[in-house]
Amino acid sequence: MNNQDKIKELIELREKAKLGGGEKRIEAQHQKGKYTARERIDMLLDEGSFEEFDMFVTHRSTNFGLEKKQFLGDGVITGHGTIDGRVVYVFSQDFTVMGGSLSETFAQKICKVMDQAMKVGAPVVGINDSGGARIQEGVNSLAGYAEIFERNILASGVIPQISAIFGPCAGGAVYSPALTDVIIMSEATSYMFVTGPKVAKTVTGEDITVEDLGGADVHSSKSGVAHFKVSDEEEGLMLIRKMLEYLPNNNLEDPIINNTKDPIDRKEDVLNEIIPENPNTPYDVKDVIYSIVDDQEFMEFHRHWARNIVVGFARFNGQPVGIVANQPNYLAGVLDINASRKAARFVRFCDSFNVPLVTLVDVPGFLPGSTQEYGGIITHGAKLMFAYGEATVPKITVTLRKSYGGAHDVMSSKQLRGDLNYAWPTAEIAVMGPAGAIEVLEGRKIKDMSPEEAKKYIDEKTLEYKNQFANPYVAAKYGYIDDVIEPRNTRFRVIRALQTLATKKESLPPKKHSNIPL
Ligand code: HXC
Repeated sequence: MNNQDKIKELIELREKAKLGGGEKRIEAQHQKGKYTARERIDMLLDEGSFEEFDMFVTHRSTNFGLEKKQFLGDGVITGHGTIDGRVVYVFSQDFTVMGGSLSETFAQKICKVMDQAMKVGAPVVGINDSGGARIQEGVNSLAGYAEIFERNILASGVIPQISAIFGPCAGGAVYSPALTDVIIMSEATSYMFVTGPKVAKTVTGEDITVEDLGGADVHSSKSGVAHFKVSDEEEGLMLIRKMLEYLPNNNLEDPIINNTKDPIDRKEDVLNEIIPENPNTPYDVKDVIYSIVDDQEFMEFHRHWARNIVVGFARFNGQPVGIVANQPNYLAGVLDINASRKAARFVRFCDSFNVPLVTLVDVPGFLPGSTQEYGGIITHGAKLMFAYGEATVPKITVTLRKSYGGAHDVMSSKQLRGDLNYAWPTAEIAVMGPAGAIEVLEGRKIKDMSPEEAKKYIDEKTLEYKNQFANPYVAAKYGYIDDVIEPRNTRFRVIRALQTLATKKESLPPKKHSNIPL
């Protein structure tokens, strides 16, 4: 073979590798409404930026005649490229090659991507579409998964890891995405479960479809496993590009501050009127968020799960922040198990990657009752407390209305090292709400009264309690609130606070790691 032939051979091998499992299977993939692994990478990365490696890797198994089934690349496309000019590592499972099933060499390719990403400090995006462990490879496949899991764990909090699920993701395979920062699932084509419907039927007798067991709807609204449900793959890939704009490439860098034309001193008169006169009337905290952030842009995580708390990314004068806000529009914004878990994870995500936190408080307390207590609200609530207390990024809190009891302490209070704690004049910061307080304080006295007398007495005492405690000034008197601000100035005050805190340095006592109540 002369040199020209050798070059021709290389080009032919590349073309062959690019066909994955072959044209028929690519066609079948398209028929299912799915893109191929390579098409997905092309859509994700800046045009022409993808540099592939390990294109010529093949598996080494000879079980069940597998030596006759060889595909260049072995079912996963790996490499790096750029998103908005910033380096990103990527792996994309190729369902056209043995159902994207994971072999020993397949796993090694993913591990190489993760190792290199760690070396250079760049995010990893994983696109999942796989039938799980390659059955013919047995324990080598299991070992391969575990190699990936360990890398997911070591990379956690060092580089952002984002998982897109665009097809099957079942069995132990689910745990790699679960160990990453964000899971995005495509509607109709993706599913995730530890055990599928057939095993469920055999073991528990439950009759359930794939979608009802582990579809995108289920995981984005019931289990909270998925942070985002997208209607198609394009939307999912664009979401990843957008999300990375809010994040630094690694934990030693800060997120990039953008230019914005949105004035920092934009006043929002509507906020002076957004809190209803009746403290039990709800309003939508997202109206507050959209009116104070840059250009009304808010990337909401977990939009359909634990809706009593709202979390997501936004910007203030170009500075990326994580917003956590109680949502009075849903279950009165109460903190329950799921809301605590959702917010705790988000707070830790932001803190890992130097994204400051802006917390908007309107919380009546923790949800009472046996369901919550038996479910461990004590432990789950403690997670959120722990996450806030441990976070060292700038923490700005604005109390809009209610901030009662333990929930007050949890929601980025001064004592959890809140840096700047503001309150609107409509804030009610107290140990508990008036109704509960009067019940406890006066219950004995009203026992012997007639119902009319009791009602009159309770009304009087409630008013007295409200006048005395349902305001921000008691907390402000003690310095627990740094200032009471006019609602329409909130954007300006938050931006000033972020600018002031930009050079904040805070650390934790030396330790191996904390023992967050999991
Ligand atoms: C080897 C596999 C495979 C696998 C699919 N294929 N899954 N090969 N190992 N796990 C192959 C098929 O044989 C077929 O090859 C091709 O991929 C396409 O698969 P189809 O079944 O034709 O596709 P489809 O009808 O779309 O169904 C997709 C599927 C199904 C639902 C994912 O293939 C399936 O149920 N696969 C097995 C899933 C599974 O049980 N995996 C192991 C789980 S245990 P040909 O050559 O015929 O086209 C596990 C443990 C991990 O993952 C533990 C980690 C800790």
